[in-house]
Amino acid sequence: MSDQTPCHLRDRDDIVLRVLQLSVNFAVGKQTVQAVTDVSFDVARGETLGLVGESGCGKSTVGRAIMQLPPPTAGRVLFNSQDMTALSGEALRQTRTGLQMIFQDPISSLNPRRRVRDIIAEGLTIWGRDNASVRVDEVMAAVGLDAASAGDRRPHQFSGGQCQRICIARSLALDPDVLICDEPVSALDVSVQAQILNLLEDMKARYHLTMVFIAHNLAVVKNISDRVAVMYLGKLCEIGNTDAIYARPAHPYTRALLASIPDADPLAREQASIDNEPILQGELPSPADPPSGCRFRTRCPYAQARCADEVPQMQAVADDHHVACHFPVLTP
Ligand SMILES: Nc1ncnc2c1ncn2[C@@H]1O[C@H](COP(=O)(O)OP(=O)(O)OP(=O)(O)O)[C@@H](O)[C@H]1O
Ligand code: SF4
Ligand SMILES: [Mg+2]
Repeated sequence: MSDQTPCHLRDRDDIVLRVLQLSVNFAVGKQTVQAVTDVSFDVARGETLGLVGESGCGKSTVGRAIMQLPPPTAGRVLFNSQDMTALSGEALRQTRTGLQMIFQDPISSLNPRRRVRDIIAEGLTIWGRDNASVRVDEVMAAVGLDAASAGDRRPHQFSGGQCQRICIARSLALDPDVLICDEPVSALDVSVQAQILNLLEDMKARYHLTMVFIAHNLAVVKNISDRVAVMYLGKLCEIGNTDAIYARPAHPYTRALLASIPDADPLAREQASIDNEPILQGELPSPADPPSGCRFRTRCPYAQARCADEVPQMQAVADDHHVACHFPVLTP
């Protein structure tokens, strides 16, 4: 890796997805919305990375930029060492089959006029794969759908949870390496959420998937993530192994997010010493006009003069635990 490589990226042979200094800007009227700015992370084979932050911080934009939908304004996305940002046309479409994405609203991501079997077979048909119907039966069975009774029905005949199963089956049909899950349970009934999370865990093991799991709440990703990355207003604040993030959160924003989970495990709260953490105050600034220096400074209880002048860079606070803050909170 070069001298320019951010210090929190790992030098390992089994990195499947490497996101390097990714930025995505959107032109809205005369303004430029800085949806994602200089975000880097990597995901090793078989890992799940939880990507967390409040609404509008840029999580979905990161997910879509990985898929090149649309391509990022700057930065690179290496998938199995291949630079996706350098690909276009047929080569990009072919490579992209190795990465699949599922979304928050399963019902609207399914074409209401098509039969479930055809929806799941879509990618296989486009790529002219052999034995498409055998594969469709296999992935339907894997996600708990009966091919004989469900295959000929249409999406509106299924509940939200069942529709998410259909979306998962569709995403698995082409045997991807990476599954990007963008808030896949946020729109589902609480009773169904755990079933879908368990299903994703099962599918991950069965199909040897590497996952990026997007959520706005740290509680959702705790049990399924090997590592967690926290974003605020388009920037990465903190990244590390899940134990470190929950037991020793070092970035003031991560601490505020954890403190806002009302029913968090009391032992974990004590360990992380977040009980006295101030509640997050103030408005979320506009990504079209983010604060200078540290983007969190207008709401940070620890902010000092330096925070307005200097953009904090990632620094290591422990093995596999990095934080972008001038004054990280270090818990013994
Ligand atoms: N196509 C677009 N055009 C203009 N602005 C956009 C576009 N897509 C996203 N944005 C803006 O970029 C920022 C990041 O949006 P994004 O959807 O990535 O956030 P998010 O973290 O996924 O939020 P949520 O939790 O609500 O899904 C927001 O300010 C959003 O309004
Ligand atoms: S850099 Fe300063 S403003 Fe930003 S999180 Fe750290 S202490 Fe707070
Ligand atoms: Mg989103």
